[in-house]
Amino acid sequence: MTRSETRRSVAITTVVLAALLAACTDSGAGGLGGGTGGKSSGGSGGTSAQVASGGSGSGGMESGGVSGGAGGAGGGSSAKGGSGGSATGGSQAGGSSTLGSGGRGGRPQEDGAAGRDGATSDAIAGDLLARDAPLGSGGRTGTGGTRATGGSTGAGGAGTGGTGGAGGAARTGGATSTGGTRPTGGWTGTGAAPNLWEKYQDYFPIGAAVDTTNYNSSLLTKHFGSVVAENEMKFDQLQPNEGQFSYGTADQMVDFAVGKGMKVRGHALVWYRQTPSWVFAGASKETLLSRMRNHISNVVKHFRGKVYAWDVVNEAIMEDGDYRKGDETKEDQRSQWYQIAGPDYIAEAFKAAAAADPDAKLFYNDYYDWLPAKNQGIYKMLKGLLDAKVPVHGVGMQCHINIEPSTDPNNQAYYQTVPYLEEAIKLYASLGLEVQVTELDLSLYIPGVTYTADQYYTTATFTQALQQKQAARYWEFFDLFRKYKDVITGVTFWGISDDNTWLSEFSSGRKDFPLLFDVNKQPKPAFHAVVDF
Ligand code: G3I
Repeated sequence: MTRSETRRSVAITTVVLAALLAACTDSGAGGLGGGTGGKSSGGSGGTSAQVASGGSGSGGMESGGVSGGAGGAGGGSSAKGGSGGSATGGSQAGGSSTLGSGGRGGRPQEDGAAGRDGATSDAIAGDLLARDAPLGSGGRTGTGGTRATGGSTGAGGAGTGGTGGAGGAARTGGATSTGGTRPTGGWTGTGAAPNLWEKYQDYFPIGAAVDTTNYNSSLLTKHFGSVVAENEMKFDQLQPNEGQFSYGTADQMVDFAVGKGMKVRGHALVWYRQTPSWVFAGASKETLLSRMRNHISNVVKHFRGKVYAWDVVNEAIMEDGDYRKGDETKEDQRSQWYQIAGPDYIAEAFKAAAAADPDAKLFYNDYYDWLPAKNQGIYKMLKGLLDAKVPVHGVGMQCHINIEPSTDPNNQAYYQTVPYLEEAIKLYASLGLEVQVTELDLSLYIPGVTYTADQYYTTATFTQALQQKQAARYWEFFDLFRKYKDVITGVTFWGISDDNTWLSEFSSGRKDFPLLFDVNKQPKPAFHAVVDF
């Protein structure tokens, strides 16, 4: 059975079992804890079929979306297992789990993705509350079951309940929801780690950027369903000299992934970086566009049928929402594409890619995905392209995230919060485009803060507390991604494990630990947080 057949078969089995369980459970009172309640109070937890009672919650999400109230209900509904966690403050309302191993406990109260609406009493809203609620502190040990599908009277699933957490402090935060009580315990994981891609198969493919050292690793094939070459399919690698295409390394990587039933993203056809100088040398606008079309045509045709999606144009918009024009202060930020061809190169690139592979999904890809001004600029550009019938299918949000937002409103990372990222997702989705998280990682360093060499993190100073803090931040962003699973069609990490990350390659000696697996390729608390739903 191929991986996609396995996925399909598992999905079908899940649906059938879910239906059977829902029909057979002897008491249907489980359901979604916290399913009632209006804006200012959390609902009470659902009671479960046989043993567990859902936790009751107090507080909610009021105060004008500003302060994170004490949470809604913890409490997993659990037909057979232990009690679901209860939480005051932050919450994971217990979802009714159709397949058992439900009973998710109250989640750690984290940094206040506060101020969301409380749930109403219907099942869907209850489910949303469960997923939206801010985090409570404390541990959880429950193993997650299948996503809750039940309503307010839905059947609880079998399984072990999570232990509840203590509540986090209510706090203020404004639209950016910053600050809050950090988790003190948490994501350590028990038992065998589930495969990431399988865990997310009802959501979106989970991918990783690979290089020549890890493209065929067992860690990759175990956990990821999609790959992208970190550098090996960039312009300078594929056509270092005019007319000399060099596909050997990329073919090896792509063929391995395809052979394993993995999806392959292509990155990146047109970028102001990693483009050989011959491309721009002596070029008029027409010469440059002709070189660009030729490159795109050759490359996209070469990988046709193997690469399902391309980052066609990468990083063409600046922080202020204007084009990257080539007159930027820092020389290494300037785009010669725009300098020579103006903005037309963007539309022409997408047209050339579509002509070379009409089945490929074509993405515009960029960073600082939380920055409102930049997002507006991207939106405007994409709307213009779509209005002109240029074939664009999606937006790649790179999502190179940091351990916490900056406190400086003039720093891009001030906006690096779940609410701002959510605004971006909604903005792009409003154009009818799909969204992919394309380069996810989570640096330990805070933008705008100066670190001296003695402050660089090491394995010794990447303490348990810091690992939990990183895990909690991963959790809240994945909570967002799952919420938008109808729009998000892929989440790709920019690397696999902390022993191999671009973030440690730059700023010589500044070691970073941004991924889900540690330097020994073992799952980190961040991994457990990502599979904890
Ligand atoms: O391959 C050469 C090697 O031969 C040489 O000895 C060595 C010495 O500097 O450099 C090697 O090339 C490096 C290359 O990575 C491969 O390791 C380049 O110097 C280095 O600049 C390059 O960095 C890459 C960077 O893009 C370039 O801008 C990173 O690995 C890669 O992770 C990063 O990826 C980008 C995405 O494409 C776009 N979004 C941002 C993201 C992170 O910067």
